[in-house]
Amino acid sequence: MKDFYYYNPTKLSFGKDSVGFLGKLLSKEHKRILLHYGGGSIKRTGLYDQVMDILKERNLEVYELPGVVPNPRLGLVREGIQICKEKDISFILAVGGGSVIDSAKAIAAGAKYDGDVWDFFTKEAFVEEAIPLGVILTIPATGSETSNGSVVTNEDGMLKRSFNSDLVRPEFAILNPELSMTLPDNQTFAGITDIISHVLERYFTHTENVDLTDNLCEGTLRAVIKNSYRLKEDPQDYAARAEIMQSGTIAHSGLLGLGRADDWSSHKIGHEISALYGTTHGVTLSIIFPAWMKYVYKENPARFARFAVEVFGIAPEGKSDEELALEAIEAFENFLRDIGMPTRLKEIGVSSDRFEEMAKKCVLSGPIGQFKVLNEEDIIKIYQLALE
Ligand code: NZQ
Ligand code: ZN
Repeated sequence: MKDFYYYNPTKLSFGKDSVGFLGKLLSKEHKRILLHYGGGSIKRTGLYDQVMDILKERNLEVYELPGVVPNPRLGLVREGIQICKEKDISFILAVGGGSVIDSAKAIAAGAKYDGDVWDFFTKEAFVEEAIPLGVILTIPATGSETSNGSVVTNEDGMLKRSFNSDLVRPEFAILNPELSMTLPDNQTFAGITDIISHVLERYFTHTENVDLTDNLCEGTLRAVIKNSYRLKEDPQDYAARAEIMQSGTIAHSGLLGLGRADDWSSHKIGHEISALYGTTHGVTLSIIFPAWMKYVYKENPARFARFAVEVFGIAPEGKSDEELALEAIEAFENFLRDIGMPTRLKEIGVSSDRFEEMAKKCVLSGPIGQFKVLNEEDIIKIYQLALE
């Protein structure tokens, strides 16, 4: 096990009545807040009115910034920073999914910085101060509600990049699984794919003596897979929605990666697809993760064999680690197809035209990954494996 430092202060309020706790969770010292949200789902579901009623009761001056798009853009972040500076905003409330939360985090950090917020994403600057933020989550997926990351796309060059800072971990996250019931199926299952991917990016490691986190990862994966099938049967199943929402937060809280070297290649390779084609994050992962597995499993077949046995319940008797590894990858792809996710680029209309360009952008800051360190040529081969 590697040494680690872990700090995750986000308070969680979970359950059907959790939005009602918003008033209590907002510190009394805040007078002017920025309410940040997406393209309108919160208005259609009635959540917006519920939140506004609570904010009015608290006599807060509320400035609104709607319009966050999936794969959020830097342009809107800059608008948010401007509002925060002009109106002396002391708290940001993000109501929505990962895109809204990530946009809010970038605004929170950018508003306390004299330079250009993009400097955090290029690592030319590091966050030293941020406006505190809180979250009401409407889609279980990214885990951004307690994570220290923000992922934003710069329209100039269509670069999708991230920064990490414990200073942007939300103060609180309100998690009502019922709010996720209005999601269209494609978003529900893209979110689930993302949750699974956050576990897998940590699970596939060469770090030894990590029994506790191995078991936590496997338990999370089994729970998510089981409840995905329940949701496929009945999207209104509250118990299954609750399991998925809880898993989404745990999967990317940092807990499952403690003491382990993690990978993140599949995320980075997928981000290049979203940057050019606007593809939903979870869709890029359902296509790239199986291809990555096929490309790297020989680095440590025993790890994939364990994945086969512990996550998919594949019988190991009489099989080599390599055979088990291939069975596990097949089982994983079958699961993704069962929940209606695409597993090949051609299914989403992406051809090989821009593989070189995407691979080049992916390694702009150097090779990626730890399970297998990948350079430009490796990434092109992974895109090819994902093609058809
Ligand atoms: O914009 P609205 O109208 O709200 O619609 C959204 C959006 O179109 C809709 N939606 C959300 N909740 C809904 C709903 N529709 C009906 N009912 C509801 N309850 O769903 C669509 C997708 O929303 P989005 O926020 O984009 O989804 P997600 O949470 O998957 O976020 C994806 C973004 O997060 C980044 C991804 O790369 C991507 O940019 N990630 C952030 C991470 C982090 N900060 O830690 C980690 C992840 O690996 C990921 O990279
Ligand atoms: Zn993700």
